Amino acid sequence: MVSAKIAPSLLSGDFSRLAAECERMLALGADYLHMDVMDGHFVPNLTLGAPVIKSLRPHTRGFLDCHLMVSRPEQWVDDFAAAGADLFCFHYEATEDPRALIDAIRARGMRVGMAIKPKTPVDVVYDLAPALDQVLVMTVEPGFGGQAFMPECMPKVAALRSRFPDLDIQVDGGLAPDTIEAAARAGANVIVAGSSIFKAADPAAVISLFRKAIND
Ligand code: DX5
Ligand code: ZN
Repeated sequence: MVSAKIAPSLLSGDFSRLAAECERMLALGADYLHMDVMDGHFVPNLTLGAPVIKSLRPHTRGFLDCHLMVSRPEQWVDDFAAAGADLFCFHYEATEDPRALIDAIRARGMRVGMAIKPKTPVDVVYDLAPALDQVLVMTVEPGFGGQAFMPECMPKVAALRSRFPDLDIQVDGGLAPDTIEAAARAGANVIVAGSSIFKAADPAAVISLFRKAIND
C-alpha cells in the first residue's frame, strides 16, 4: 500500500524568499518540495531552471521534486543532477526516447518521474512504469497555477493504480479540499498543490486534510 506524500508547488510561493518558503512548507508538514520548471516553449510560461535549484540546495534538506515542463528535457539532466535535484520528472510528450532519458536520469543518481498531459492516453505509461519511481498524471494543462481540476483525468489514475499497486502516482493541478476525494478515490498518492496550500488561512490544515484523504 502506498502512502500519502504532499508536495506544495513553490510556484505559488514568494520567489524572492524561496528558501524560507521551502522551510516553511516542510515545517507545516510537506513531504516534497515541488519545483515547476517551464521554458516558454513546451508551455507558454517561464519560471526557473537549474541555477535556482543549485542556489536553493544548500538551504534546504527537503526533497526537490522537479517537474520539467520543457522541450527536449534530455539537455538538462546533467545540470539538474549537478544542482542537487532529487527527482527529475520529464514530460512524455517532450521527448522522442523516454527509455534512454530514464536511463540517463538514473545514471546521474536522481529518481525518475514521467508526466502526461490531460490529452495524452495513459497506455503510453504501461511499458515504462516499471522503470519509473513516479508517474505524474496532470489534472490541468501544464503552464500555470490556479486552474480548475479536470476530473476527467481520474480514470487514467485508476487504470494505473489497478495495474501498479506500489507505484507513486502524482496528480498536479487544481488539487484542493473539494477535489482531493476524487483523486484519492482514483488511487493518487502524491499530491501537488500550489494555490490551495499557499493561499489558505491555515496551510498546515490543508496539508493534513490531503494526507488524511489519501491514507484513510
Ligand atoms: C502547473 C504546475 C503546477 C501548479 C499547480 O503547470 O505543474 O504544479 O503549480 O498549481 P495549482 O495547485 O494552483 O493548480
Ligand atoms: Zn507541477
